[in-house]
Amino acid sequence: NTTNLNLALDRYKDMLTTCPKDKGWVNEDLYIYKGFWHFNFLWGVFSLEAMMTLQHTFQAQPTDIYLITLPKSGTTWIKALAYAIVNRERYKNNTLSSHPLLTYNPHKCVPFLETEFFGKTSVYTDGCLPRLLATHIPYSSLPQSILDSGCRIVYMCRNPKDVLVSLFHFSNKLRDKSRCRMAFDEAFEMFRKGVMPYGPYWDHVKAYYNFSLEHPNNILFLTYEDMKENTVNKVKLLAEFLGCAFTKEEEARGVVDEIVRLCSFENLSEVNKHGDFREGVPNDVFFREGKVGDWRSHLTDEMTKVLNQITTEKFHGLDISF
Ligand code: A3P
Repeated sequence: NTTNLNLALDRYKDMLTTCPKDKGWVNEDLYIYKGFWHFNFLWGVFSLEAMMTLQHTFQAQPTDIYLITLPKSGTTWIKALAYAIVNRERYKNNTLSSHPLLTYNPHKCVPFLETEFFGKTSVYTDGCLPRLLATHIPYSSLPQSILDSGCRIVYMCRNPKDVLVSLFHFSNKLRDKSRCRMAFDEAFEMFRKGVMPYGPYWDHVKAYYNFSLEHPNNILFLTYEDMKENTVNKVKLLAEFLGCAFTKEEEARGVVDEIVRLCSFENLSEVNKHGDFREGVPNDVFFREGKVGDWRSHLTDEMTKVLNQITTEKFHGLDISF
């Protein structure tokens, strides 16, 4: 309600002046809120304020689908796959010529809850049902109505060492010219301490993993690595979870393979070679290598040891392998 919302926003304004903050990866400052790092303002978006407002105002629908990730964990890919799966009937006669994913960045097809959706920025959603939305918001700050509505959530995580490498390159590409390039040592230190948007990495993943154990029918927990290794099977699993399993006839017609191809790194990176997603954010910044294990060419043995140790400790007892 409005009173709660105003109280929350007052608390938020106080917090911004007093709470721990750190320099972020691109041009932003990061603030701690409920144990997670958030940017307040970046690329014209008040993300932290949006998240707090959404907690009090957002009404999820039971038919909604939420794609939840940490940045650089395969968000763009899972957005494309879910969009192509859910909307396949609408484009079944023209997948290869005029599918939206052949024109628009997947981020235009599936808006982020805390940025495009909240800011009512124009996106290519075209009134699609079910509502397909994405978010990086940590479990503890997710609007309660999402958890209560019984809607479907897909969570995708990725090997932390590859997330670090991906975030390092992404951030350096987007930094203001006035700010010097970030060195990899610096990126490693920040990541290790948990300082990244929506991090610490381990706490974000663990909270959603635990939620998936409690609510296996509502949340599908995926890894980027599994998706890479076994794309066809995982795409079928995803469709089944989203309530629109592929029929035998569709499989025989090659629809699954077509969706895999449409959403492949090779295809999407080609489509998104030019243009901007938002001001200062070119479409191609979301596509770099698209591989598993690029960390091997960036991390020293010592860095690898440190991150492996943190992961072993934090994920103790969890069945997550990369
Ligand atoms: P790399 O930087 O390791 O190449 P996000 O979408 O969460 O921002 O994550 C970006 C990472 O996913 C980048 O990883 C990017 O190359 C990779 N990626 C983007 N589209 C992909 C696709 N269709 N298939 C596989 N990986 C993809």
